[in-house]
Amino acid sequence: MNGTNKITEIDTSGGRRPFFYDVTLRDGNQALRQPWNVVEKEKVFRQLLKLGVQGIEVGYAGASDLDFASVEHLAKIAQAENVDIVVASLARAVPRDIEKAGEAIRHAPRPRIHTFIGLSPFAMENVLRMPPEKVAQKAVEAVALCKQVLNGKGDIQFSAEHFGDSMDNLDFVIDTFHRVIEAGATVINLPNTVERYRPLVFVDMVRRVVEALPKHITVAVHTHNDLGMATATTVESFFAGATQLECALNGLGERAGNTNLYEVAVAIHNCGVENPVNMREIYETALQVSEWSHVPIYEKAPLVGSDVVAHRSGIHQDGAAKTKGMKKGAYRAVEGDLIGRGESDRVVFTSQSGKSAVYEIVKAIGLPITLEEAAVLQPVLKTRSEAKGGELSDAEVAEVYEAVLLKAAGPLEFRALRVSADETEFSFDIRWQGAEKTLVGKGTGPIDACMHAVESLGLHFHLAEYSQLAVDAAHSDSAAFALSEIKLQRRGPNGQPEGAVGIGRGKDTDTIKANVKALFNGMNRLLAA
Ligand code: KIV
Ligand code: ZN
Repeated sequence: MNGTNKITEIDTSGGRRPFFYDVTLRDGNQALRQPWNVVEKEKVFRQLLKLGVQGIEVGYAGASDLDFASVEHLAKIAQAENVDIVVASLARAVPRDIEKAGEAIRHAPRPRIHTFIGLSPFAMENVLRMPPEKVAQKAVEAVALCKQVLNGKGDIQFSAEHFGDSMDNLDFVIDTFHRVIEAGATVINLPNTVERYRPLVFVDMVRRVVEALPKHITVAVHTHNDLGMATATTVESFFAGATQLECALNGLGERAGNTNLYEVAVAIHNCGVENPVNMREIYETALQVSEWSHVPIYEKAPLVGSDVVAHRSGIHQDGAAKTKGMKKGAYRAVEGDLIGRGESDRVVFTSQSGKSAVYEIVKAIGLPITLEEAAVLQPVLKTRSEAKGGELSDAEVAEVYEAVLLKAAGPLEFRALRVSADETEFSFDIRWQGAEKTLVGKGTGPIDACMHAVESLGLHFHLAEYSQLAVDAAHSDSAAFALSEIKLQRRGPNGQPEGAVGIGRGKDTDTIKANVKALFNGMNRLLAA
């Protein structure tokens, strides 16, 4: 557990660790418009190894020659690279499928045949069209054949397809489980083949199965997302005693997909359970899989969607700003780092945003700002956003920043600057109270000389602080520029600094001009105040 948010009350796993069994290459692949070839499957397989899952269902060897070839290829890679995880092929409870699966998977160091048959009343009556006893018999025979085919190497997983629809014949289902275990199955999988009801109805059934089966049996759950609750169902099933969690990358899979691996892994982590998944690989995996599958990531997809780090309302922006950099954020479920995503919170300006948002956005653009300045900018940005009818881009915020903060209107206007050959005397063309003037000042540099020059106008200032920032072109629409910041005070009759400290900012591609502009900007702000 590497977070601070371990809450033991919500970790009721009793120290069990989840076993992540990925079905992207089988259930996910079978639902793709263009199923993956061997080369593409290998890429996904290697990404799964990086993620650190404990089992991979690499395909359905009996489905086609292509799937057979890819199952065999990945099993051989597992052998050549001594991959210490379960590598499985699916097989219906029919001899041909089981034999094909056994043949394709045999090279893997830890092969598994995963056989299944529907045990729900509806499936038996309407799809299989067989009486329950005959179906149970087929299940037992299938597992016995898996055992024979595997010949002592690997293990057998049995799935009761449509388990989520078996609430009315659960005793029969559990009895069949005992019989397939007797025949050699060690993993019993409970699929919510079609998500129709409530997570807790399913979870109660999982609990009953866990209590009924011998402790050495691994209970698995495999949930689909037809009603959008697959993650909840899987996570709660884990806490009800299921250990093997069947998930898919990017939630790929039949119809609305399989349970999303990222969501399950992070939820379980957040509950304080030690999690074998290498969560830092999540973000990159999601982007890769989207590219390989040609299935875009919905911008609101939990954890990995492009928009899920954005905060747009003032209240949320304020909370996000106040908890920035903390392990637990006011409005985020995870830190970006946990899933390998650079960003944790992105603040975007809309008409509902407040001054914290302005402050955060301007800082993120790379420009200096104080909270007071953010409060000055906020109403201007709000009006602009309302007029536009939507959020403002960084460039638009920077434009308003420049118009409002860098060009503060006042009685002094800087026009041009000339420097003597020995760089000790500076002439400033200005407008002062509407009249054109040229002031001359000597000093150690342009700021010093300028402060001396304006004394002829009866203006006496003290420079409290000075800094200059190079802003690279990436942060602006124009070329790289310098941004000078000065802090000024007025001098009293005795020559001592007095009153408020004002900020002045100036931007120019020429660093000397940036300094002078900052000084004029600061003097104008103080004069206006
Ligand atoms: O959803 C399902 O029931 C399946 C089985 C083959 C396990 O994918
Ligand atoms: Zn499925």
